[in-house]
Amino acid sequence: MQISKCLFPVAGYGTRFLPATKAIPKEMLPILTKPLIQYGVEEAISAGITTMAMVTNKYKSAIQQHFEPHFELEKSISGAKSGLLAEVNEIIQTCDFTYVEQPQMLGLGQAIYTGKNLLGNEDFAVILPDDLCTNSAASVLKQMTGVAAKYPDCCIVAIEEVPLESVNKYGIIAGEELEKGIFRVNNMVEKPAPEQALSNLAIIGRYILTPEIFAVLENTPADKNGEIQITDALLTLAKQGKVIAYQFQGKRFDCGSVQGFLNANNYFAKKAAFNP
Ligand code: UTP
Repeated sequence: MQISKCLFPVAGYGTRFLPATKAIPKEMLPILTKPLIQYGVEEAISAGITTMAMVTNKYKSAIQQHFEPHFELEKSISGAKSGLLAEVNEIIQTCDFTYVEQPQMLGLGQAIYTGKNLLGNEDFAVILPDDLCTNSAASVLKQMTGVAAKYPDCCIVAIEEVPLESVNKYGIIAGEELEKGIFRVNNMVEKPAPEQALSNLAIIGRYILTPEIFAVLENTPADKNGEIQITDALLTLAKQGKVIAYQFQGKRFDCGSVQGFLNANNYFAKKAAFNP
């Protein structure tokens, strides 16, 4: 079944980028001239998705404004500069945007649950736009829709190998390799200490979830910080054999960290220099 909706949990405060993110959402920080959120939306479009569902908060209205027409600006740049808004205008014309506010930051699992009414009873994608993914061929989400088609009734998580000393920043999986780079997950732990890690296979910010996840989230207790973790909910489904981890082709930048954001800017700047 074609996945038609993508959820963007973008309610977080982006504290690692303060003071920049006091008034500007982290997702509006640019890689060269394009904000992170637009890269995420373009990846969803590349996977055939046309409805973008945003879980946001009341301080992040700039995200909504970015995906609305701006007639005065368009008038003032008509002529030589008019192409500068062409990509985002195309997105505005071809996609639907829906929004819901997450009143309190109670974790990614709770953010996804907050988006329930925007999604309906069908499989949906999740993109965390601060994980910026790029690939010269099919996008990471497009690759994942291919995996989802092969494993119906399963949730798909994108994974990559990370250095052992970094496993405490990620959800880490263990599983049985079914085919090259595709695992049936049988265990997962959120942010383990390196000595307790199940592996160095880390979940990154791309998911395809079945609607079953909502009933599971309702029964997933908060962790010691009061947050509901999507990893904990997925573990329930993994124990029923319903979670597949996919080692994607491509590159990922953790733009939620200053170093990753810098790396992404450098990478895209170099690419632009070769291909102006
Ligand atoms: P992060 O923890 O990386 O984002 O959450 P953050 O909280 O905005 O950043 P820092 O750590 O303070 O710098 C991963 C993703 O989950 C979303 C965030 O917006 C981000 O896209 N999220 C997290 C929510 O939407 N709601 C939450 O309650 C938690």
